[in-house]
Amino acid sequence: MARLIAIVTGANTGVGFGICLRLLIQLSQQAPSDAQPQERVDPNFALSSRPLVQSPYNSATLVLACRSKERALDARERLLVAFDVELLRRKRNNRGEDDAYARHFRDTLQIDFVQCDLASVSSVFEFCDVVKQRYPYISHLICNAGISCFTAIDYYAATWQILRDPLAGATHPTYISQSSGLMSDDGLGLVWQCNVFSHYLVQRELKELLCAAPSVARVIWLSSMGAAAGHSDPEDWQLIRSLSAYQASKHQIEIIAHQLNEPPNPHVRHIVVGPGAVHSGMGSQLLGPLTSLIMIIYFYIVRWMGSPNHPGQARKGAISATHASLAPIDHLPPSSSAPRLDAQTDRLGNEFVNVSRTDGHTEMSVVAGRLLERIDGLCETFEARDGRREGADNPESGLDGSVVIV
Ligand SMILES: NC(=O)c1ccc[n+]([C@@H]2O[C@H](COP(=O)([O-])OP(=O)(O)OC[C@H]3O[C@@H](n4cnc5c(N)ncnc54)[C@H](OP(=O)(O)O)[C@@H]3O)[C@@H](O)[C@H]2O)c1
Repeated sequence: MARLIAIVTGANTGVGFGICLRLLIQLSQQAPSDAQPQERVDPNFALSSRPLVQSPYNSATLVLACRSKERALDARERLLVAFDVELLRRKRNNRGEDDAYARHFRDTLQIDFVQCDLASVSSVFEFCDVVKQRYPYISHLICNAGISCFTAIDYYAATWQILRDPLAGATHPTYISQSSGLMSDDGLGLVWQCNVFSHYLVQRELKELLCAAPSVARVIWLSSMGAAAGHSDPEDWQLIRSLSAYQASKHQIEIIAHQLNEPPNPHVRHIVVGPGAVHSGMGSQLLGPLTSLIMIIYFYIVRWMGSPNHPGQARKGAISATHASLAPIDHLPPSSSAPRLDAQTDRLGNEFVNVSRTDGHTEMSVVAGRLLERIDGLCETFEARDGRREGADNPESGLDGSVVIV
């Protein structure tokens, strides 16, 4: 029995908080339900149907990797309270019978905070240094934090799309505009740096700790249904000019994660997951109280109409990440099929995991290989800037935010 040591970026709210809570609830069971084979997966993906009898982890350390200490400590409190409420509810359902397994898990649970601002390369390096000092290994790195550059909703276009095709209006909205040209203080495309580059840098810096995990470590990348190859422009790899930088960053995440599995590393597996559409800071940043309520009702309506893609609550949307974290590695779809594990629900809101394929997966390895060369070059440049290595040896650093033409 080993200790799970998981880093969750952006753990203080939304999907990240949902993943943390769901992980705790699952890990406090000897045979977590999220680790079991998912019966409703697409039959194109042949998965094992053997049930998991015993979780390999009986204790856990959660590392909340957040940019704000105050929000992270508040989230820690909320996590512990919600987890204790869940344990009490379980005990009541068991007519007061003591659950020694859950009690041991709760007594040995550790929830830590390590500051990490993904918009700052120096902060990411400092975060990795602290993690290296504090932990003997990392079994799970959950790359959840993300930003968008959504600027406005065109309510006329929204009404038109929702009336014409309510499912598409809730799943692939065409009425939300995004800004371009947002830059970080490091001189990189801001959305790209937070969503793609910083997570890549974290897994690169922590490679040794991941390889030291007692069983295959998992790096879980949060993507989105909006991720599509069509949003990507190889000439604008830092997504500076892009008017769909969010979707393009998610597509990059998918192809990078799959490429990192080539050739397969026996110590680390990269897995792409999607939470479906859930209410969170990101989903509702453009909405007021009334429009937020309308969106919640709208999600319920499309779910009743048969859309599986609207889990609504972050805790339900977290199932894809917890399944990817806890299912035996040979129960997961092979990485060669470029899978994305998506959280879905039935009409009644019962959550499960489905599998889809990364868009553009056939020509993915060429595009991803080129992208990774550039990203590695940029990592080297920053390592040299921060005195972590001698001289940058890649001329295509793109450090000044310049768009490097292929
Ligand atoms: N919500 C959905 O329907 C949906 C759908 C598909 C995919 N996703 C993906 O799910 C993930 C979580 O999204 P969410 O919906 O939970 O969004 P959210 O509620 O806005 O939460 C985003 C999290 O990322 C953190 N974050 C933002 N910028 C950061 C930075 N510079 N450094 C460190 N942390 C930073 C935020 O921290 P602060 O609280 O400090 O801002 C917050 O914890 C994202 O990757 C998103 O793309 C969400």
